[in-house]
Amino acid sequence: MKRRVVFVCERNSCRSQMAEALFREASKGQFEVASAGLNPAKEIDPNAILVMKEIGIDISSQRPKGTSEVNIVGSDVVVTVGLDMSTDSLVSAPYKIEWDIPDPTGAPIEVYRRTRDLIEARVNELVKQLSAEVRVKFRIRNLWLHYGERPALKNINLDIPANCIFAIIGPSGCGKSSLLRCLNRMNDLIPDAKVSGEVFLDGVNIYDKGIHPVELRRRVGMVFQKPNPFPMSIFDNVAYGPRIHGIKDKRLLSEIVEKALREAVLWDEVKDILHRPAFTLSGGQQQRLCIARALAVEPDVLLLDEPCSALDPASTLRIEELMLELKEHLTIVLVTHNMFQASRVADMTGFMLDGELIEVGSTSQIFENPRDERTDAFIRGRFG
Ligand SMILES: Nc1ncnc2c1ncn2[C@@H]1O[C@H](COP(=O)(O)OP(=O)(O)OP(=O)(O)O)[C@@H](O)[C@H]1O
Ligand SMILES: [Mg+2]
Repeated sequence: MKRRVVFVCERNSCRSQMAEALFREASKGQFEVASAGLNPAKEIDPNAILVMKEIGIDISSQRPKGTSEVNIVGSDVVVTVGLDMSTDSLVSAPYKIEWDIPDPTGAPIEVYRRTRDLIEARVNELVKQLSAEVRVKFRIRNLWLHYGERPALKNINLDIPANCIFAIIGPSGCGKSSLLRCLNRMNDLIPDAKVSGEVFLDGVNIYDKGIHPVELRRRVGMVFQKPNPFPMSIFDNVAYGPRIHGIKDKRLLSEIVEKALREAVLWDEVKDILHRPAFTLSGGQQQRLCIARALAVEPDVLLLDEPCSALDPASTLRIEELMLELKEHLTIVLVTHNMFQASRVADMTGFMLDGELIEVGSTSQIFENPRDERTDAFIRGRFG
């Protein structure tokens, strides 16, 4: 889904329309864009048309719209252009930006030109910023988690980019699994667990009231330390999620199961025994089955909580290869105790200690050149 950007200004003003056209041009269709005035003029300002034409953009067919005509409430970014009013009073969009650009209405044409250039510079900056943010999968802000009175996560702030493997390391009990569970609201299921702060997935706060945890968990799948196949056949394990989401057609189910098992690199080993109970598989196979089960509902994100700790080196290697293939089309957050594993597969690594996120960086930086002495001590195996 494309993110939506709306520019809002006062009545009579052409600034939001210039901004809309310039943004559309600069962002090359990456975003939806609209503009509105609080009290729109009937016709678009001829001087604005003129100065935009000078740079090759025709806005003569744009029509000034009122704020009720463009869907401001559902927008991801709201930019007010020289509006003497806080955006908070307009909407609760995730991003609110205020541009202090004065109204050129009635001024000589040079002032229009200056206004246009000013808006163009701001628009280019904004497009650059938003394009970088599109690649952020999870944006975690001021996240706290308490079990009863005890804090398990203390003010976590973290951006997890899309299509990468992000490793979380740290000693036992530091909060790695707790953090993972915050990303698909598995903590909702733990009595006593209390979350505060914000977790944005593709710009939407997953703790908002409108978010349905079951749909969220379809998008953000999870695989645990110990393989936990359901007490049913291999086929039914993988078909479980799609069935819950209403897919009944046998052929379609078979296709989905085969695709997921192929993605999890298990198909060749099980294609002839699909109706055998899942627990007859080896530990490594069971773990790949659990990954296939998570993949069958086509998630955007996979949360893996020490997925290899119960596996032998050969199975571990297969799962690591699998992760590297999967990150082409999804984002993986991996909790691991195995430093070698983190350094082999992760693009980025975060080090946690006692509920705090101590340091985040590229995996090579964290392992070769940690900035914090506590990270250094942990990497060198002095504790944990
Ligand atoms: N359901 C729960 N109820 C109460 N406290 C909990 C619960 N789950 C975890 N905790 C506590 O929260 C803290 C963090 O636990 P968590 O399981 O997130 O750590 P971890 O880093 O995953 O550890 P490990 O590496 O051993 O898996 C620990 O002190 C733990 O005892
Ligand atoms: Mg854990």
